[in-house]
Amino acid sequence: MTSLRSPRRRQLFAAAALAPTAAIAATPQRPAAAATTTLTYASAFHADFVFGVAAASAQIEGAAFEDGKGESVWYRFARIPGKVHGGDTLDVACDHYHRFDEDFALMASLGIKTYRLSIAWPRIYPQGDGELNPKGLDFYRRVFASMKKHGIEPWVTLFHWDLPQALEDRGGWTSRVTVDAFAQYADTVVKAFAKDVKHWITLNEILCFTLLGYGTGTKAPGRKESDKVVNQTYHHALLCHGHGVRAVRKFGGPGAQVGLTDNCAVAVPVTEKPADIAAAKAWFIERNAQILGAIHAGRYTDGFLKRVGADAPDVQPGDFDLISLPTDFLGLNIYSGTFVRAGKNGGYEAVPHPVNYPRADSTWLRLVPQALYWGPRLCHEVYGHPAIHITENGCGYDDEPVVNGEVLDLHRRDYVRSYLREAHRAIADGVPLKGYFLWSFIDNFEWEDGYQRRFGIVHCDFKTQLRTPKLSARYYSDIIKERRIL
Ligand code: FCB
Repeated sequence: MTSLRSPRRRQLFAAAALAPTAAIAATPQRPAAAATTTLTYASAFHADFVFGVAAASAQIEGAAFEDGKGESVWYRFARIPGKVHGGDTLDVACDHYHRFDEDFALMASLGIKTYRLSIAWPRIYPQGDGELNPKGLDFYRRVFASMKKHGIEPWVTLFHWDLPQALEDRGGWTSRVTVDAFAQYADTVVKAFAKDVKHWITLNEILCFTLLGYGTGTKAPGRKESDKVVNQTYHHALLCHGHGVRAVRKFGGPGAQVGLTDNCAVAVPVTEKPADIAAAKAWFIERNAQILGAIHAGRYTDGFLKRVGADAPDVQPGDFDLISLPTDFLGLNIYSGTFVRAGKNGGYEAVPHPVNYPRADSTWLRLVPQALYWGPRLCHEVYGHPAIHITENGCGYDDEPVVNGEVLDLHRRDYVRSYLREAHRAIADGVPLKGYFLWSFIDNFEWEDGYQRRFGIVHCDFKTQLRTPKLSARYYSDIIKERRIL
């Protein structure tokens, strides 16, 4: 602000009044604050903090039937008219099946040293169980060899939604047949890759392939079952998680670590005052009772059983011994959050987002950076995990054209920056947050939204398969290199 009280300002003002252009041109531009301004990088990350990127088999591999692969529920679902945007299918996707080596070379050139991928169950057991397809194992052997060559460490998810259709035909997640099949699949995969993989994730986002696959029917296999049946699908998924942990303990070899990736419902207190924080915590505990609550309590909690009443899942003796096996870390996929405040009578109240609240093009993806603070913090406080990793965080936008070889996705750069700042705040406040995986490495098949919705930091031209790193890829690459938010 100009103050006429300073003699220098008065002089300038007088000169400008006489001959404005000449006076300004003759005056050297020396803002008063220039000498004292500094750029402070407070947000440094520890040398051991894991920075990675993530993707999943069904979304990038393509080669839908190559080398003996079986059909998955998503392959079938995408062929039902009206289920996937634009009638898109997974048949080719990013053709990663044939291009993984160049993809890993690109990753390495960006300084990315950790990559979360998933294994396609129908490549290993085309019918879900029974006969093994050796060519499926060979493919991932080549993938891990290429990653090693490029200095990239794999974090492997055993199940990221591509259930073999043959299992769905026998009941899918509503049946214990799937639990037994998963146990066999997990044993086979962990045994085969124990030397290559030291970080295993059992399942990705249980609620998405159960509730959305069998309740609302918006995801494969697109069924609309009763609450009782949906609760049973959760239970079968929890059992599979337990089998994944068991398999890694038995066959994973020295140093193997295992955890679940959950998309817990994240509460963000409307203010960071004690009453709103307590309300957020109470909401968080109730909303996450059926997955994280059950795993950590070693049983279904009283609150959950009361809520579901006669629709409670059938539990067999010994189920919870498996479900609650200790894990090494908890993976969290966090994109957004729900604002919660203290209710009038001591309870809590979730505050809906107004219609014009800022969001990405994905309608569910409201921009709530504080979710990356409150999600890990509440998980730590409520479940007491020794290590938490953000196994997915990112944003989906349509229409990101390549212009002169560039994609200027400043919205994604801003998203990553603002969310990472909150992650950093969580660490500063004592939350054992140990890693962050950006979703996704490359634009891919975004489930029912097809290819129109792009989450990648690398642009994929789905016609030519040309890869173009976006501005956000360069930005993230710099963050990884400097280990601080830039
Ligand atoms: C998550 C999924 C992942 C991707 C992102 C955008 O729920 O785990 O596969 O689709 O959303």
